[in-house]
Amino acid sequence: MTTEPGEAFPTLSTQRLRLRRVERTDAGGLHACFGDPEAMRYWDFPAFQTLAETERLLSWLAKTTNPYDHLAWAVTESPSNACIGMVCYHHREARNKRLELGYILAPQRQRRGLGTEAVRALVDYCLGRLGVHRVQAFVHPDNTASIRLVERLGFRCEGGPLTDYWCVGEGYRSAMLYAFLAGTDAAAAAGRTQVTRAEYRRRHVGKTPRSGQ
Ligand SMILES: CC(C)(COP(=O)(O)OP(=O)(O)OC[C@H]1O[C@@H](n2cnc3c(N)ncnc32)[C@H](O)[C@@H]1OP(=O)(O)O)[C@@H](O)C(=O)NCCC(=O)NCCS
Repeated sequence: MTTEPGEAFPTLSTQRLRLRRVERTDAGGLHACFGDPEAMRYWDFPAFQTLAETERLLSWLAKTTNPYDHLAWAVTESPSNACIGMVCYHHREARNKRLELGYILAPQRQRRGLGTEAVRALVDYCLGRLGVHRVQAFVHPDNTASIRLVERLGFRCEGGPLTDYWCVGEGYRSAMLYAFLAGTDAAAAAGRTQVTRAEYRRRHVGKTPRSGQ
């Protein structure tokens, strides 16, 4: 997987986490997420029944060659390299400076603030590195953890429920639309004012971002 010709994958670091490219050895860690019916209760596809299904998803995530549309990170807890979750952006429209987020943690690693920490780093990356203005999250109306997470980061609910938004197995799931707008009052209140490239670099990367990404 590449981000720009000749550029390394954008590994992101936080106080407790390292978000890195998805690797073949992450199948078990990802299956603890995507194979868990409880963690997948509000996702836009059903929990995987077999490790082979997770491995197919892993191959697709690891093969991503077009970060202009989507990119996924394995979440690891420093100093371990073990995968405990995944964060991603998808449906990016660079022209409109807009994209959507996805995030999941293995149940045994939830409720420690790690989800918030990982998504915060991802939002910073999207603003500071990709120049995104609008970050969207479609969240099931009953997904309290996800709703609290995005609200804490400064996202605002813009609508919903969007009834039967996702076709999942034999049924449908609805979604609320949450959005984070760079430079708004809500973003400032949550400490998420537009992250400058220099600030982004200081927090997560420690190297000079390229322009035009
Ligand atoms: C959403 C998710 C990533 C949050 O991860 P996490 O590490 O547990 O989240 P945090 O510990 O940072 O907590 C975020 C907020 O959610 C709350 N929360 C976490 N789990 C909760 C639960 N099961 N029920 C109610 N609230 C919960 C926390 O108290 C916190 O709220 P606060 O900031 O007001 O205290 C995790 O629950 C998950 O993987 N869920 C399954 C996948 C999913 O639904 N992804 C979102 C798709 S839109």
